[in-house]
Amino acid sequence: MTTKMRILQLLQQADGKLISGGEIAEQLSISRTAVWKQISALQQEGYRITAEQGKGYLLEKSDVLSAYEVERRLTTHTIGHPIHYFPSIDSTNLYAKRTPGLENGSIVVASQQTDGIGRLSRKFYSPEKMGVYLSIVLHPEQIAFSDVSTITLLTAVAMIDTIEQLTGVRPGIKWTNDIYLHGRKLCGILTEATIEGESGMIRSIIVGIGLNLYQQYTDFEPEIRDIAGSVLSETGVRVNPADYVAKLAENFEKYYLDQHFPENKHSFLKRYKEALFFLGQTVTVSSVREEYSAVAEGINENGELIVRREDGRMETLNSGEIRLKLNLKDYR
Ligand code: BTN
Repeated sequence: MTTKMRILQLLQQADGKLISGGEIAEQLSISRTAVWKQISALQQEGYRITAEQGKGYLLEKSDVLSAYEVERRLTTHTIGHPIHYFPSIDSTNLYAKRTPGLENGSIVVASQQTDGIGRLSRKFYSPEKMGVYLSIVLHPEQIAFSDVSTITLLTAVAMIDTIEQLTGVRPGIKWTNDIYLHGRKLCGILTEATIEGESGMIRSIIVGIGLNLYQQYTDFEPEIRDIAGSVLSETGVRVNPADYVAKLAENFEKYYLDQHFPENKHSFLKRYKEALFFLGQTVTVSSVREEYSAVAEGINENGELIVRREDGRMETLNSGEIRLKLNLKDYR
């Protein structure tokens, strides 16, 4: 472990109390100047360390995102082991797809994406230190193709559990992959699979999750300003990014590994359905072929949405082809 990390550990162990430069220097057998240099480096990384003349250093609560900060909070056995952290990257999903050898359960996480990707090849705005952008890498032993999209639903449930545990507020889900609160989108999920050409087997699944943490409405691009929100803007809670990643890993592991996906489909689909906030409402369904109004009735055992057209006909919608528009004014 580097000297800088050992100093950080000593400050963390002091648990909100002052620790003198002399004591740190003595414990690590280095000079006080060396201590001060490393403290400056930690401050550069975002740690809020105050120095009190003649008394020592104090580490205050800091919202630092790093592999170390996530890993020390993890309670999981597989998900999040290891964490690959990047202050900035093009896209965590792209990185996961182009990097061979990433372990089952590893998480690629970034504080900024310069080329974040959303569903249907849309752009996903991923500004620096406003949100957390991550991809969970899975190498399932055997998985049916139809279950890949169900992982998106599992992830949505793990996400709303996580946000509720961290803020006390349970968001809703917009079928299939968006998390909403007060009619504003906080989070998007993009699940991608890589398939081996020869055998047609699924080699890996990459679950990409982008969460807005700290934006106020004016921080969003004008085109999404009316529909986007953040955890802070909608709950008033400033969530620590490392707490969030560790909690999400825990919830994801529970549904995906501990409760044995896909055998547990029924139990999390029940929770998924309970969180759909527009059931019974009229929505606009749009596919390449047509656009029509229908009442959202529920989901089936594959997570497909069932709607009733104005003439009474029932339709089962598959997320691949359909976009759903809600009259969001109703939900504010
Ligand atoms: C959507 O809302 O359409 C899905 C958005 C998914 C965004 C996440 S951020 C982490 C991962 N990397 C990406 O480029 N996209 C996903």
